Amino acid sequence: MKILLTGGTGYIGSHTAVELINSGHEVEIIDNFYNSKKSVLNKIAKITGVKPKFYQIDLLDNKKLDRLFKKSSYDAVIHFAGYKAVGESVEKPLKYYKNNLVGTINLLEVMQKHNVHKIVFSSSATVYGNQEGIKLDEDCQTGLGITNPYGQTKYMIEQILRDFAVAHPNFAITSLRYFNPVGAHSSGLIGEDPNDIPNNLMPIIMKVSTGEIPKLQIYGNDYETPDGTGMRDYIHVVDLAKGHVQAINHMTTGIAIYNLGTGKATSVLEMVQAFEKASGKTLPYEIAPRRPGDLAKVYADPQKAEKELNWHATLTIEDAMRDTLNYLANHR
Ligand code: WQD
Repeated sequence: MKILLTGGTGYIGSHTAVELINSGHEVEIIDNFYNSKKSVLNKIAKITGVKPKFYQIDLLDNKKLDRLFKKSSYDAVIHFAGYKAVGESVEKPLKYYKNNLVGTINLLEVMQKHNVHKIVFSSSATVYGNQEGIKLDEDCQTGLGITNPYGQTKYMIEQILRDFAVAHPNFAITSLRYFNPVGAHSSGLIGEDPNDIPNNLMPIIMKVSTGEIPKLQIYGNDYETPDGTGMRDYIHVVDLAKGHVQAINHMTTGIAIYNLGTGKATSVLEMVQAFEKASGKTLPYEIAPRRPGDLAKVYADPQKAEKELNWHATLTIEDAMRDTLNYLANHR
């Protein structure tokens, strides 16, 4: 299939582009480089031997978007483009609602106009709000206790897609709820390379390891977990990318929702230990107060994706640490 990736030079998008090309799909990419770099296109070419066609387009520019769809006929779209910094979204809510919601609406309008009827949406476990400690499956409640505008935009877009699917039964719509993506491609050529200051654990661990940040602040060690630190479902980005290939290959009309996680919860201290084992270096850290909005334990029940998409995560936290360190070594 000929597939357009919005935000395809970003962390998840670039890894998905590689796996789609490796699976024989034709990939084109649009991005505005808000949180990525153009050099990623050459890296994708180096890994796959194919350089995807690229157009620098912002989803808020619906005229440019319309011109693209007029001249290129796509079989499907995978929609990654969106702001994703939780902290920034609290400070600048309108920026997040405008960019993420209006961008998605522009995309759906232009898809409808040009008869592109398949879309996979990059959603997030954040839509489960403040539910914790239970293996989250796709029937769990969503939308309650979401603590930030970024998470609200993911939830709202899922509602927009649900209503759109009812109004347009000829569309195939899949929302993939990511848990905590980590790791990098084994080539070391692509990985997590945010333009902004990271607030996720893994990029912060890496900045501590290079000395850019003096110490890891562990946000609380008094949670109801075995070692007291927060637990999450860290999924290797290559497993996540392969989940998108399976989703695209299994699309049918109507709306489908899948959790993409490992089904395993790992604590912050276990992540520190995995880093130290993979790097042979000690990671300096100190216990800091809990971060507002954080939950104790958030992890997936991935059975639905395993059954219906014939997909399951195979890579481990150790693989993710090794691959991230390898990526960093190539990017010094
Ligand atoms: C993980 C764990 C922290 C940093 C967020 C978004 C979610 C998704 C993934 C996009 C927690 C602890 C972290 C640090 C720490 N993003 N931590 N010190 O909060 O699970 O989810 O990123 O879809 O939508 O909400 O991820 O990486 O921020 O935190 O102790 O310096 O690491 O308390 O237990 P989170 P995270």
